[in-house]
Amino acid sequence: MPIRILGGLHYLALSDGIDPWFAPHEVVAQHRDWLERFVAEHDVQTNEVQRCFALLPAFLELARAGGRRLDLLELGPSAGLNLLFDRYGYRYRNGIWGPADAAVVLAGEERGAVPGQLLAVEADIGRRQGVDLNPVDVTTDEGVRLLTSFVWADQWHRLERLRRAIAVLRADPPELIRGDYVELLPQLLADRDPDGLTVVFQTASTLYLDRERYDQVRTTLRDAARAAPLGWISMQRWDEEDEAGDGPPLEVALWPERDVRVVARMGPHGEWLDYFG
Ligand SMILES: C[S@@+](CC[C@H](N)C(=O)[O-])C[C@H]1O[C@@H](n2cnc3c(N)ncnc32)[C@H](O)[C@@H]1O
Repeated sequence: MPIRILGGLHYLALSDGIDPWFAPHEVVAQHRDWLERFVAEHDVQTNEVQRCFALLPAFLELARAGGRRLDLLELGPSAGLNLLFDRYGYRYRNGIWGPADAAVVLAGEERGAVPGQLLAVEADIGRRQGVDLNPVDVTTDEGVRLLTSFVWADQWHRLERLRRAIAVLRADPPELIRGDYVELLPQLLADRDPDGLTVVFQTASTLYLDRERYDQVRTTLRDAARAAPLGWISMQRWDEEDEAGDGPPLEVALWPERDVRVVARMGPHGEWLDYFG
């Protein structure tokens, strides 16, 4: 609830030019009805592009092993900014990756270095699809305001990264489907194109499922992998971690030939990466 209220205050700052940070109690009192509605109607919505800093090596592993086009299917993409990972630039200790003129360049702390050979792999992306209960449409000004309102107003670097990533998305948006992926996943996987390698991925989304529904997702993935190869990249939930560590493990699978393997640990927002491959 406090996060929603702060998001609402930031939203007011972005839309009406009000400065809520100078006298927050007054602004809350003046806009009480509006804030009550905002808090009731909006879940906290964030789409953290920095997580691509941790995801890229996993995508490159699948591009290398799969040897063909990747068709992306993200579970819980929010605005879909991470479905555009290949349009961003990356700086790692052993090399760079991505378009030379990328508007978004991601870097972070590398506790275990990403190998240079992996950074030489190219990724050819076909379909970009995501399923979200509440997709945020950042091709509209309202969607931009909503997503921006949940990044704290003093986090300039995150706000600037978000602004740039939204501009990248607006040039060519991914396909966002409104719905519950636990229900929609079987059909989406049945419809996949056998010429590409479908890669299902998620960050900070399956942790919202109860265990039963999460198991349902895993069963759907394994069933679908019997029909045709399937890639999977996932930031693990707390109840999957084999041993306690400093950040969520990142797992990768390429079924049926390679079962799930933890390839890295990452900062929750992708601010650091310990890649061990
Ligand atoms: C914290 S956000 C993470 C967004 C994005 N994956 C990222 O890492 O920036 C979690 C997203 O998962 C979505 N979500 C949670 N459960 C879902 C479900 N069962 N079906 C579809 N979307 C879901 C939420 O609507 C929200 O947009």
